[in-house]
Amino acid sequence: MGLNFEQARQVLERNRQAHVLRFWSRLDKAERGALLRQISEIDFKDVARMRKMLACKSATACVTPRPAPVMKWTRQTYAEAFKAGEALLRQGRVAVLLVAGGQGSRLGYDGPKGAFRIGPLSEMPLFYFHARKILRLTRAYGRPVPFYVMTSAVNDAATRACFAEHGYFGLNPADVIFFQQGVWPALDDAGRLILEEAGRIFVSPDGHGGTLTALAKNGCLDDMTARGIKSVFYFQVDNPLVEIAEPAFVGLHGLSRAEIALKLCRKNSPTEKMGAVAQMADGRYGLIEYSEMTPEQAAKFKYGSPAIHVFSLAFLKRESRKAMPLHLAHKKIAHVTADGRRVTPDEPNGYKFEKFIFDVLPDARNAVNLAFDRADEFSPVKNADGEDSPETCRRDLQAKWRRWLREAGVAVPDSVPVEIDPAYAGCAAELKRGLMMRDFVDEETRI
Ligand code: UD1
Repeated sequence: MGLNFEQARQVLERNRQAHVLRFWSRLDKAERGALLRQISEIDFKDVARMRKMLACKSATACVTPRPAPVMKWTRQTYAEAFKAGEALLRQGRVAVLLVAGGQGSRLGYDGPKGAFRIGPLSEMPLFYFHARKILRLTRAYGRPVPFYVMTSAVNDAATRACFAEHGYFGLNPADVIFFQQGVWPALDDAGRLILEEAGRIFVSPDGHGGTLTALAKNGCLDDMTARGIKSVFYFQVDNPLVEIAEPAFVGLHGLSRAEIALKLCRKNSPTEKMGAVAQMADGRYGLIEYSEMTPEQAAKFKYGSPAIHVFSLAFLKRESRKAMPLHLAHKKIAHVTADGRRVTPDEPNGYKFEKFIFDVLPDARNAVNLAFDRADEFSPVKNADGEDSPETCRRDLQAKWRRWLREAGVAVPDSVPVEIDPAYAGCAAELKRGLMMRDFVDEETRI
C-alpha cells in the first residue's frame, strides 16, 4: 500500500528528509501521486545505512590483499569435471543468470548494452551470442536451460523488445525469464535525498548485488526450485566470448561441493580494471573491486575476475535473506536547488550506492577459483574505442573462431571475416563434426 501525504510527511521527518516535499504545492495531481509512490518504495533502513556509511566515508571492510589460491586443470580433473557437468545438464539441474541492468555509460550506447550489435558479419546483438549458446546446450543435453535475465527500470522494456524482435533467438520464451532489479536513492554531502525534479527523487539501479533481492522478490528463486535447479551459472552482458554453463566448470562446482566457483584469468596489466580474489586472515575468500584498491595493492594480484561464476541455488537463497554491504561512488547528479532551479553540476555533488554480488563470497562455506585462458573466454565490450571496445572484441571473437576452424582442418586467412553461430558449434570438435556433414551456411565465411 502506498503512503498518503501525511504518512509520507511523517516518514520523511523521522528520517530527516522533510525537504523532499518542499515543492509539493506546485505539483499537479499526477506528480503528487508519483512522488508519494516513490517515497513508499524507499526502504529507509537502507537510507540509514547509507547515511552512516557517508559519515565515515569508508568503503567496505579493508581486506588483507593476499591473493587466493587458483587451481588449474589437469587432464584427469578436467575429464571428471566435464562428465559431472554433463550429467547435471542432462538432468536439467542448471540455470543461467545474466546481469544486464547496468547503464553502459562508458560505451556511450543509448539502449541496453545487450542490444549492442557485435556480430562481425551478422551484426547480431550481444544477447544473440548468449542466447544461442543456451540454445545449443538445450539441444545437446535434451533439457531446457532456463535463462534468467536481470534488467533495470532504465532498460527493461527495450531488453524485452530486443528478444521479441529476434524471436527469442530461437529459445522457448517460457524458458527466458526477465526480472527487474531495484533502485536506490542517492544522497548529497549532508546525507539528504536528492530531488532531480520538483516532484521526483533521483534513483538509480542498486548494483548487481541487487540480483539477490530481485530474484527473491520476483519469484525467480521459487521458479528455479520448481524446475529442479541446483547450479546457477552467472555472467555479465558485455562479454560474448563467455563459455556459458561450460560442463567442466559446472561439474567442478558440483564435485568440489562449492557454494561458489569463480573463473579467474591473468590480468593484462597490474592495474587492469578487474576485481581480484583475496584470501583473508581467517582463510575465507573475498573479492576486492579494482576501484577500491591502491595501484600497489592491485599489482599484488596476477589474476582478475571476469565475473563468471557458478552458484549453488541453496547458497543464493541463503544470501538473499541477508543485507549486503554498500559501496559508494561520488558522482555528478543533476538536481533542483532550494529555489527551484535545475542545475547540472560540474563537480561531483552526491553519492550513489551499490551492492556488488561478489560480496557474498566470504559467506561461502566452500569456494573454488579456476584459472582459464582469457583468449578463449574474455574480451568484454566496455569502452567506445581503445581497450575493451567493440573493435577488440570482434577481433578476439574472430581469432577464436579461426582457431576452431584451423583445428577442424579449415585454414581461413586473417583477411577473411568469419563468424560462427554459437548454436551451430560450441567447440572445434563440434565444428568439425558439423563441417563433415557439410550442413553449414556459407555467406562469406559465416558458418
Ligand atoms: C565488472 C566488475 C569487475 C570485473 C569486471 C570484468 C563490478 C562492480 N565490477 O566491472 O570486478 O573484473 O566487470 O569485466 O561489477 N549491472 C547490473 N546492474 C547494476 C550494475 C551493473 O545488472 O546496477 C551489470 C551490467 O549490466 C554488467 C555487469 O553488471 O553486465 C558489470 O557492470 P559494469 O559496470 O560493466 O562493471 P565493470 O566496472 O566493468
